[in-house]
Amino acid sequence: MSKEQGRQKSGVSRRQFLTYTLAGTAGFLASGVLFPMVRFAIDPMLKKGEGSQFVEVGDLNEFSEEPRAVTFKVHRKDGWYEPKEGETLTAWIRKSPNGEILALSPICKHLGCTVMWNGNPQFKNQYFCPCHFGRYDENGVNIPGTPPPAPLDTYETKVENGKLYLGKIKPRSGV
Ligand code: FES
Repeated sequence: MSKEQGRQKSGVSRRQFLTYTLAGTAGFLASGVLFPMVRFAIDPMLKKGEGSQFVEVGDLNEFSEEPRAVTFKVHRKDGWYEPKEGETLTAWIRKSPNGEILALSPICKHLGCTVMWNGNPQFKNQYFCPCHFGRYDENGVNIPGTPPPAPLDTYETKVENGKLYLGKIKPRSGV
């Protein structure tokens, strides 16, 4: 029996065997590279709805035109990090004369320091950032000529049975 006849008999030649093996190995390695890329690309879709839960922060009639800080805990995962005791957040809450609720994040839009209502006696009825003298009006809108480039972010709000609930933080566009 010739060599050629032997190959045909076994069904798979050495060349075909090597081709299949190399193709299989290349496929395996490619999937190792591609899977994380695909996972990364669709991650926002998988996370949809995550962190959308609302947290109760008090009775609606506890709030007035004078902004008041509330702190509350949320449970959320940041990559692999998920503190058991939750994360403490702060919101400055103001109820306008027409009953509209505004809940502001205290994180300065310049470089992320913490702002405070009436934080500087020189600037009454404003949010003040001590890091670089950033200032915002009572609605959290950045005051032109100070470092912050945009208004303070706001929390989603909802009212149920007279209680105020806060949700996700949303950025606002610049002025
Ligand atoms: S971080 Fe607030 S003004 Fe710079």
